[in-house]
Amino acid sequence: MKPLRIAVLGAGLIGRRHIQTILSMPLAAQLVAVADPVADPQQLDLGGAAWFTDENDMLERAMPEAVVIATPNGLHAQHGQLCCARGIHFLIEKPVTATLDEAAALVDAVARSGVKTLVGHHRRYLAVVQQARQLIREGALGALVAASVVWATRKPDDYFQMAWRTRAGGGPLLINAIHEIDLLRYLCGEIISVGGLKSHAARGLEVEDTAAALFQFDGGCLGTLTCTDAGFSPWTIEQGSRENPAFAYAGQSAYRLIATQGSLELPVLRRWAAQTPGDIGWDRPIVSQDLPPAYHDPYQAQLSHFQRLIRANEAPVVCVRDGARTLAATLAVAQSSADGRHCSPRIF
Ligand SMILES: NC(=O)c1ccc[n+]([C@@H]2O[C@H](COP(=O)([O-])OP(=O)(O)OC[C@H]3O[C@@H](n4cnc5c(N)ncnc54)[C@H](O)[C@@H]3O)[C@@H](O)[C@H]2O)c1
Repeated sequence: MKPLRIAVLGAGLIGRRHIQTILSMPLAAQLVAVADPVADPQQLDLGGAAWFTDENDMLERAMPEAVVIATPNGLHAQHGQLCCARGIHFLIEKPVTATLDEAAALVDAVARSGVKTLVGHHRRYLAVVQQARQLIREGALGALVAASVVWATRKPDDYFQMAWRTRAGGGPLLINAIHEIDLLRYLCGEIISVGGLKSHAARGLEVEDTAAALFQFDGGCLGTLTCTDAGFSPWTIEQGSRENPAFAYAGQSAYRLIATQGSLELPVLRRWAAQTPGDIGWDRPIVSQDLPPAYHDPYQAQLSHFQRLIRANEAPVVCVRDGARTLAATLAVAQSSADGRHCSPRIF
């Protein structure tokens, strides 16, 4: 398969990770250009790729066949539309767009243009997530009944020096919980009803520091998510999976998936089942088995998939429409918190 001729829009925190990933996988992709109006190219290893300060100029002159959009949330819709208008495939960082109306317009534009898309919900590529999904799908745990998820860590105080992180949209709901909500959809089914609460009591900023959510899935399973960036705990998927080197490894699970015949902890991948198959009940012994978790870099797996999506017509792991559904379920938590009522996420 020919490597993709790829460009990156936005060379900030996550854009740099995409750049490193692309440069580390020459058989999957060749980095032809990077565009960012502010970042300093002298501080970056671009592997010889051309540097631009204007995205239109870059697309015109470098003519990439695919683009990674790693710009701030508020620019996602504009940059996705730009790619659609030029027939360029794109991998867009999460959230797919800042608003649901923008997401709807982008879903339409993608359908009209025929470009291939991915949304950067990279957790779906974690090997332990793939292993868990397979166990659930083949019925190894019985029927899913409930899911309990925690994402709780303490962000450093200087994280909040960037003003946008202190205002609506810059909090853990749209930055962090959206990944867990996406994984819950991937593992447990489509979310049909959402209840939510938000609090800013710990930091006193305009933006929430803590959110709690209730989910009903289409298969009947119920789920809860507790998310805070103001509490010090070992319970984030990053700390349990070594997914992100910025997080100190704690080796604990953040997910408990509970089913009729047994349960599963993630990302440690610990399976709980009856000591004797089928002999279940609260008076019966339950034993755990640590399944050997495979590991691969989810960003590399994502890029390989992007190549196969474009070159070999592989079905997308998470396209713009799918990302829009995750955004709708995430924003429903905030809406429920404001209205004091459960709500159904908008359907895409
Ligand atoms: N998948 C993940 O786990 C993950 C992690 C972090 C961030 N993100 C997402 O990635 C996006 C970027 O986040 P970040 O933390 O890297 O932000 P950042 O502020 O560090 O980087 C954004 C970059 O985009 C540049 N930019 C602004 N306007 C631009 C334009 N018109 N053209 C090109 N570049 C432009 C900025 O100068 C900046 O360098 C956000 O949507 C964020 O939600 C995803």
